Amino acid sequence: MGKKRDESSSLPDLSSHLDSSCGPDLASEPDSSCEPDLASNRDSSGEPDLASHPVLSRMAGEHRRLSQGPPYLARSIDWPTFRRAELPDCSDEDLRVEALARDETIPSSWYVRPEFHEADEASILAASWQFAGAVQDLANPGEFVRVRVAGQPVIIVRGNDGEIHAFYDVCRHRGGPLSVKPGSRCMLQCRYHGWTYRMDGQLRGVPDFDYVELFDKKDFSLIPVEVGTWQGLVFVRLRDGEPTLGEWLAGIAERIAPWTLTAKKRAHKESYEIACNWKVYVDNYLEGYHLPLVHPELSKLLDYRRYVTEVGEWSSLQHSPFSGEDHPYADPNAPDEEGRAFYYFVFPNFMLNILPGRLQTNRVVPLGPDRCRVEFEYFYDDLDSAASAGRVKDDVRSSDDVQQEDIEICEDVQQRLASHVYDRGRFSVKRESGVHHFHSRLRRSYAKLPE
Ligand code: FES
Ligand SMILES: [Fe+2]
Repeated sequence: MGKKRDESSSLPDLSSHLDSSCGPDLASEPDSSCEPDLASNRDSSGEPDLASHPVLSRMAGEHRRLSQGPPYLARSIDWPTFRRAELPDCSDEDLRVEALARDETIPSSWYVRPEFHEADEASILAASWQFAGAVQDLANPGEFVRVRVAGQPVIIVRGNDGEIHAFYDVCRHRGGPLSVKPGSRCMLQCRYHGWTYRMDGQLRGVPDFDYVELFDKKDFSLIPVEVGTWQGLVFVRLRDGEPTLGEWLAGIAERIAPWTLTAKKRAHKESYEIACNWKVYVDNYLEGYHLPLVHPELSKLLDYRRYVTEVGEWSSLQHSPFSGEDHPYADPNAPDEEGRAFYYFVFPNFMLNILPGRLQTNRVVPLGPDRCRVEFEYFYDDLDSAASAGRVKDDVRSSDDVQQEDIEICEDVQQRLASHVYDRGRFSVKRESGVHHFHSRLRRSYAKLPE
């Protein structure tokens, strides 16, 4: 396995990863894409005589921008800016966070109005760490994964330098999709017209681009994405900001020790499209209040009376001991008696469901105001023993049963949140502190929008 990035590091240092050892040596490629031939249009000072050149005179403004620095990078990473005034129910009063015992749930408009779908993607999902896959899928140089984050295509690749790199999966020519260049272990190539990029994002090969004027490859690098790893999992973040990856996941590794997630092997993936807003699904995940009525079978497995919720800065934890000793996850090495099932939520849309010998990740992807997809991945310590196949199958089946129950209630709730008779509700202090934590973080996120 290659070297992992420092969890708290920010953008990769793009200047330090030029790897001359990898792939075909393109240095000898005819470089048809270099500086425009301005020799025949220079005035006596040596500067291009823009006025006398039919194309350059039209592009004079553009040329000035180019000569002052690359304009395309900044333009490409603009995000829509939402003003609080454009979103309903976002007054100072709506955004005030009160103590759990006194607070109200978020307004129903936040679950149903289309303005919030775009605002959530640009202001919350793009600005937060997003689970993007497992390090085991990037074990060797040249291996890559694609993921959509906040509606944006992202490609993550292991370079020959051993580092994991992430970029928007968008070619700077005309928006084509990227892939690893065949026969090369460390070049990305657009699958449309074949432009190639190095692992530091720099544009390298530009076939058949002779005679293109005012074109500088330096202005057409791939747009990098912040990437980091933690316990064998890969995360990306599109917009700079707080917290670091280490701060975002603070306390989880210590809490689940001596268990670790790093060496677990993935056995299964599943995804569910659900007719509800992504926040309805997260709310439902965050409380065990609904266990007795919605999940009668699961209730028998967990000790509901001793079901506990703890809230942290960015994450919350629900944990519960199992009922009795005769259950499929019995583990004499569990961290403590109270902690045999850990259900971690990490704001805004990621869950780690940790049971003895098993990790299940959930990523909640907003698809529209009243639609989301939930992606499940199952990882296990043991995939080799004779018993493991049956255990995995039983685990996936029972999890699917619980998921079907959750889908049904979430879709019912979404329809009723859209009812004109409902606006906001209240929290159970004993059972809904996790939901309150989520709503408080949402309020803080919207409060950061410009007035
Ligand atoms: S769109 Fe990528 S090379 Fe043309
Ligand atoms: Fe549930």
